[in-house]
Amino acid sequence: MGSVTTPSFDRRAAVSLISRLRTERGQDNPFPIYQELRSQGAVIPAPWGGYLVTSYELCDQILRSSAWLEPDKPWRERQGPRTRWNAPSAREISSTLPALNPPDHTRVRRAAGSFDRGTIEQLSSTVTEDTDRLLDALVDRLRDGEADFAALVSEELPIATVGRWLDLPAADWPRLRDLTHEQVFTQELLPTASQLVRSDVAMAELREYFLELVRDRRTRLREDPVSEWIRTWDLLEPDQDKADEQVYYLALFVLLAALETTSTLLSTTTLLLVENPRRWDLVTADPDELVPAFVEETLRYDPPTHVISRVSAADCVLNGVQIRTDEMVHLMVGAAHRDPGKHPRPEEFDPHRRPAHLAFSGGIHYCLGAPLARLEANTLLRQLVRRLPRLTLVRPPTRAPRVAFRRLLNLDVDLA
Ligand code: HEM
Repeated sequence: MGSVTTPSFDRRAAVSLISRLRTERGQDNPFPIYQELRSQGAVIPAPWGGYLVTSYELCDQILRSSAWLEPDKPWRERQGPRTRWNAPSAREISSTLPALNPPDHTRVRRAAGSFDRGTIEQLSSTVTEDTDRLLDALVDRLRDGEADFAALVSEELPIATVGRWLDLPAADWPRLRDLTHEQVFTQELLPTASQLVRSDVAMAELREYFLELVRDRRTRLREDPVSEWIRTWDLLEPDQDKADEQVYYLALFVLLAALETTSTLLSTTTLLLVENPRRWDLVTADPDELVPAFVEETLRYDPPTHVISRVSAADCVLNGVQIRTDEMVHLMVGAAHRDPGKHPRPEEFDPHRRPAHLAFSGGIHYCLGAPLARLEANTLLRQLVRRLPRLTLVRPPTRAPRVAFRRLLNLDVDLA
């Protein structure tokens, strides 16, 4: 990817921008900070080591290239036992699909299957029913005044969808959802020691839950995905304990991957809809065209995941910057989506845009659940504008203190 040009960096400026990104104000609106980061260069040394990549084209290239790898278990071990990469929760994550590289990744991904058209059609009716039920509850609440859309709808639809799909008892859904919020820190950009402890505690509980689930499901196999994964892994792995462990990692990661990201997409889509009355009217006037386009523009404008990381498989030069084997690059997807070199007027939310984006990553790790996330967001948006009179935003939402994984803690709305 080019020759070394030894670009000069303003290290102090990078430190200050990252500190701002971690403040409440930074979380609320990271985009001006991203603009400043981009003005420092397309590849900037990160103050804690490694690099931040802010250009869309470079992020896209890295995701598609075999010269860049996931930070897998051997890589994590090379970082040393006392690093965050070897905390108990991080070690658990290192055995799941997105932390594997080929050939292991190829084998496990194949065994996971995919959301084909038939599966999505089947899920579509339960997503429609659940959306209807949740909007009924929202309408009820709105009769008495404002309502928190995040709590009543965005947090509920993904767990109901995945809970039914994996056939998990509804009584367990709230606990599982809370645990996924707790474990996420181990995948964050710069977790604190106390956040890592929270991840470790949550991950231990999730491990126990899903190992038990797999053992129990084995005793009465059905047509659900967990049963299917057991059948598949029994053919691939002669040792039953190892087969169960593989099914456990898959079920665990699907739950972790599917909940918070989708809730954030639902809340962000709704926020962008209710904060501007013209947008509500626009989508209402032409839902067939504008519902899917609105969701895709939301995924570009403010994706649920703002950072994706990779490590270099060999010494290389990236945009004139020398990168050594095993060094990490953080793809600043939230910043890359506002790269004017890719999208004209990037700071403008334009529901007619139908943009390319990296919200679901790219290359071999492209999100397995993208069709399901899109189904939920499209169903919700369509039902919202069809069923409800225009909603307005009561107050700006509060966000969780994260950099990589966006999360709206509330979304207070009222009838216009
Ligand atoms: C808006 C919602 C979602 C977003 C933004 C999202 C985003 C992502 C991203 C960025 C990755 C790749 C990480 C990397 O390249 O290192 C990924 C991978 C993955 N996602 Fe999603 N995801 C969403 C919903 C879902 C859902 C609903 C499911 C499952 C039902 C799911 C399952 C997975 C799995 C299994 C992988 C690993 C793929 C692999 O490594 O081969 N995701 N997702």
